[in-house]
Amino acid sequence: MSAYMNETRKIRERMTFLKSLPDYNSDDVKWGTSPGDKDFFEICKNKLKEYPIKTVLDVACGRGEFIETCNKEGFVAYGIDPVNSGNDIYSGTFESLINAQSVPIIDCVTIHNVLHGRGHSKKTILGLFDFLRNHSKYIVITEPDYKKMGLPILTNKFELLHTFSGSHGGKSAIHKLYKVKGI
Ligand SMILES: C[S@@+](CC[C@H](N)C(=O)[O-])C[C@H]1O[C@@H](n2cnc3c(N)ncnc32)[C@H](O)[C@@H]1O
Repeated sequence: MSAYMNETRKIRERMTFLKSLPDYNSDDVKWGTSPGDKDFFEICKNKLKEYPIKTVLDVACGRGEFIETCNKEGFVAYGIDPVNSGNDIYSGTFESLINAQSVPIIDCVTIHNVLHGRGHSKKTILGLFDFLRNHSKYIVITEPDYKKMGLPILTNKFELLHTFSGSHGGKSAIHKLYKVKGI
């Protein structure tokens, strides 16, 4: 077996925790899915190639366009979303991820176009930040509205490496790539 195949098989074994994410409450599902910003996904994937990143977990992945983009490029990418399921997409929410067991270190967790959404509680978002802090080396996140949500700024925990501009549903969106401090 080639070194590439061997590495991929090991990553796939570590990511089996996604198959048994805890059940979530349907009240946790805040809004429906919509087409992703494919131009941004392409730019983002190219930027991730500049770093030692192989495993990608796209949280709230919607229709899975970003996972598809990454997998075509040699990453091993998975997604979770409460609404859709397809290739490499598992059923889950932020809440189920926060409560998951046996979570490995993931090279990069991405969260595109969802945190600014309606009604994610402060407890959920802070729990998510803790999940990121403990389980990912890099993150790409659409900038949440810190003031509106009463949140501490992310740079307390993560080192900003790059800022992207993108769009979603006709509105502009700022996405940021961070290195998680200490991982
Ligand atoms: C606006 S879409 C963004 C989809 C994708 N990330 C993109 O950029 O195209 C928001 C996504 O958040 C998902 N979602 C809603 N509530 C969620 C929750 N509590 N945890 C995780 N995902 C959630 C929806 O199912 C939907 O796919």
